[in-house]
Amino acid sequence: MTQQNTPVLRSSAWFGKTDRNGFIHRSWMKNQGHPHHHFSDRPVIGICNTWSELTPCNGHLRELAERVKRGVLEAGGFPLEFPVISLGEALLRPTAMLFRNLLSMDVEEMILANPLDGVVLLTGCDKTTPGSIMGAASVDVPTLVVTGGPMLNGKYRGCDVGSGTDLWTHAEDVRAGRMDCDQFVEIEACTARSDGHCMTMGTASTMACMVESLGMTLPGAAAIPASDSRRRLTAHMAGMRAVEMVREDLRPSRIITREAIENAIIVNAAISGSTNFIIHMLAIAGRLGVALTLDDFDRIGSRVPLLVNLMPSGKYLMEDFYYAGGLPVVIHELLDLLHKDCIAINGKAIGDNYREAECHNRDVIHAFDAPLLRESATAVLRGNLAPDGAVIKPSAASPHLMQHRGRAVVFHDIEDYHARIDDPDLDVDESSVIILRMVGPKGYPGMSEVANCGLPRKLLERGVTDMVRISDGRMSGTAFGTVVLHVAPEAADGGALALVEDGDMIELDVAARRLHLDIADEQLERRRGAWQCPPPPAERGYAGLYCRHVMGADQGADLDFLRGGSGSVVTRDSH
Ligand code: FES
Repeated sequence: MTQQNTPVLRSSAWFGKTDRNGFIHRSWMKNQGHPHHHFSDRPVIGICNTWSELTPCNGHLRELAERVKRGVLEAGGFPLEFPVISLGEALLRPTAMLFRNLLSMDVEEMILANPLDGVVLLTGCDKTTPGSIMGAASVDVPTLVVTGGPMLNGKYRGCDVGSGTDLWTHAEDVRAGRMDCDQFVEIEACTARSDGHCMTMGTASTMACMVESLGMTLPGAAAIPASDSRRRLTAHMAGMRAVEMVREDLRPSRIITREAIENAIIVNAAISGSTNFIIHMLAIAGRLGVALTLDDFDRIGSRVPLLVNLMPSGKYLMEDFYYAGGLPVVIHELLDLLHKDCIAINGKAIGDNYREAECHNRDVIHAFDAPLLRESATAVLRGNLAPDGAVIKPSAASPHLMQHRGRAVVFHDIEDYHARIDDPDLDVDESSVIILRMVGPKGYPGMSEVANCGLPRKLLERGVTDMVRISDGRMSGTAFGTVVLHVAPEAADGGALALVEDGDMIELDVAARRLHLDIADEQLERRRGAWQCPPPPAERGYAGLYCRHVMGADQGADLDFLRGGSGSVVTRDSH
């Protein structure tokens, strides 16, 4: 059936031909049993699937793909599922973040090279969402996202257990002798008891909320638990909507605008989302040519109150969040701050989508005028230790350390840290500042989530629960502590972090947005002159390419040659 008002389909350059190449494009596809009429004037919807058994958070995405297909077929489209690499946070070494840009390249190239008119991205675990969006945004065909949804609340001996957040606490309990190993193992299955991604407001949940606040998924979708039948319903409706988006030519570049990104920054502050949001948002903006700087996150987000009482900043989990009304309630509370005219993938303005949202539990989602915290945004710090910026998440930090001066205890890299952190002779006390370097984009490589490194055992045993830690790495979205992250330039690039020595005084002043190494400028320059650039941690293959081209954390740690987009046109045929 030819649909009226459908723009010329991109796929017609493959399937609409009557020549030899048209035969090739259709004939081999027919070995899958596709009827001939599917190749005529039907929007072809690619279902870009990050499913993998190595990515347990995305282990249910094959089933969701089937639901998307039903929706596509019902709306008169032609669904074709295709795999891309998947990034599981729990298994990948040295860090899943190393491969985010590789996933984005896979997504971009497969959309670009195939006869696709629109795309549904199936994502879940942390990096699969931003990596997929980066790739799709670079091609800019009509796209929407279906995230896999969070796991159900963990349950252990009658208490809720949050993935990641409680792990960090329990791991320190084991190190301090407060918990035995059998108990620790018992908690594993209690934490991960259903399909889905981490159910704290970690990076995966943050990314799901980012997607919804940008307008890139169906309203209300972010918090639906993976096991809830409404997640499958959402996938079905997303498939239907993807077909309509092709007919409306509704592309990411019309949705992910500067104003939509500002909305996402405001929402992220109100939910106290992961610090990884900053890096991924910068990278996505870079693909679409939207001007965005690190300081925008502080400037736009700093006036926003914390509304959501979820771990790691609060006490509840995503399942509770969904039952309380989920992200629609948060957006509803924030409407006066948001650009209400931004269009979402359902073709409606954000203001219209969320005007009627109702809250069902005010202890989980607070009202704008009765927030959990007056200011919650991630603070951007600058100073001679981070001239290109660093970030800290105050809502996950200790108030008494927000202004702190202490002497540096320096770990040259993560191996040095592991070798010495529990040494009884380590010269450290609770006022010390732990410096962990060479864990940034180039240095690790991949900017690992080790910035919330554990405290020295001898201090844990004395009941110390937090210290100032500073690094060029990242922190898991599920983690907490007074941790200064994303220091730029990174140590591997000769940033000042590489020049800190044991005993130097470090000053952190979050209210003043200041991070200072208290030594004379001349001394700092002398050290800089003597600094020797370490050899790159990788030269061969993708990791080598990454090390040569990755940009700093302040630019989203994307590869320099991936800024901007490829567009969706490929003129040359294959035969
Ligand atoms: Fe996949 Fe947390 S490990 S979302």
